[in-house]
Amino acid sequence: MSEPREIGIALLGLGNVGSGVIKLLEENAAAITARLGARLVVRTIVVRELEKKQRLVAVDPSLLTTDITAAIIRDDVDIVCELMGGTTLARTAVLAAIRVGRHVVTANKALLATHGSEIFAAATERGVDVYYEAAVCGGVPIIRALREGLASDRIEHLMGIVNGTSNYVLSTMAETGRPFADVLAEAQALGYAEADPSLDVGGDDAADKLAILVGLCFATTMDGSRIHREGITQIDPIDFEYAERFGYVIKPLAVARDHGTAIEARVHPALVPANWLLADVSGAKNALYVHSYALGPSMYYGAGAGMLPTAMAVVSDAIEISRNISARAAGAPPMRTQVSEPRPIMPIEEVRSRYYIRIGVADRPGVLGQVTTVLGYHGISIAQVVQRPGQDTQIVVLTHEVREGNLREALGAIDTLAVVTSKSRFLRIVGSTPAG
Ligand code: HSE
Repeated sequence: MSEPREIGIALLGLGNVGSGVIKLLEENAAAITARLGARLVVRTIVVRELEKKQRLVAVDPSLLTTDITAAIIRDDVDIVCELMGGTTLARTAVLAAIRVGRHVVTANKALLATHGSEIFAAATERGVDVYYEAAVCGGVPIIRALREGLASDRIEHLMGIVNGTSNYVLSTMAETGRPFADVLAEAQALGYAEADPSLDVGGDDAADKLAILVGLCFATTMDGSRIHREGITQIDPIDFEYAERFGYVIKPLAVARDHGTAIEARVHPALVPANWLLADVSGAKNALYVHSYALGPSMYYGAGAGMLPTAMAVVSDAIEISRNISARAAGAPPMRTQVSEPRPIMPIEEVRSRYYIRIGVADRPGVLGQVTTVLGYHGISIAQVVQRPGQDTQIVVLTHEVREGNLREALGAIDTLAVVTSKSRFLRIVGSTPAG
């Protein structure tokens, strides 16, 4: 029997994910070769320093180089795996790889959220594949599920937990009452967080992932920087108590909906009904709830970060591309990578939601009346209200659905009332009916 064909890979980056790719390609080599009918072979690995003392995996030193261009243009490289992170050098490398006809796998959500249109257009023109399963929800095969599993369907809306660090922080704070900074440091030590964890807890990482999902689900181009995002840093321990009292948990959500004329896309912490599956997604796990026309609701759950889960997504993409290479060699037409037309994004003021509002007030007669009068004036209907008496008196209001612009105007007016002792805070509530 003849030796299986070889598909050459250039790895750009040997950090956590790159090391996982080496490990997985070694450990699962036999199964991968059997499934693919070809061997995936790492020809070269681009690193920042050749002499680094400690690496996460042992590699043949002769594979290492610091020269990205030389790695990309090697004749024996078919697929370039961009695992460097960042958007400047990564963009140059990916576009250069496409230009010389290399297929690309990337785990870089920021790159695609910022330069996705340019990269996909270049790939389509050159007739090469750009695969990016690892860029969204790590090892959860959500891109493949949306692109292939739901290829015949029409996605209407989606909602999910796409940042493991924020989910870890919020679920641990809710369970233990420990302070934010303490729990975040733990998430960093466990390796879930970005190099700059403010990207996680500030919502930027989730917004980049949502931009990619929106592009795929709604056939549009979405610049991640246009997505409204709010981080989890302002959540107070008392909010977990109130949420529980009303039958909710607080989760870091990414939400998108196709309104036809515009796309709604937003990232923020929200109150999720405690009896929803999303409410049970704890720790660093990710999950995405998708609602599509034909299938109805479906959910996807798993590890959104970590060496092997993310490497698994990268290697599976390389396998898929290798199959495409064989299909093309056999005369199959090229795959259409990404269909995309620009669509307007709905301003956050036009979004409709239910809201949880918390306001610090003086405990005096008529205070509640003043607050509810302002809400009523702005067309905001109250579903539930509670007051916590004592020195630090808080009024908590749950509203019926309202346009966010009205809510923001009302809270602006409430904050000017003399009886308000600490400014209003609000969180959105998902689900169509008040719980509890
Ligand atoms: N920092 C990301 C998270 C992991 O916490 O989900 C990779 O996207």
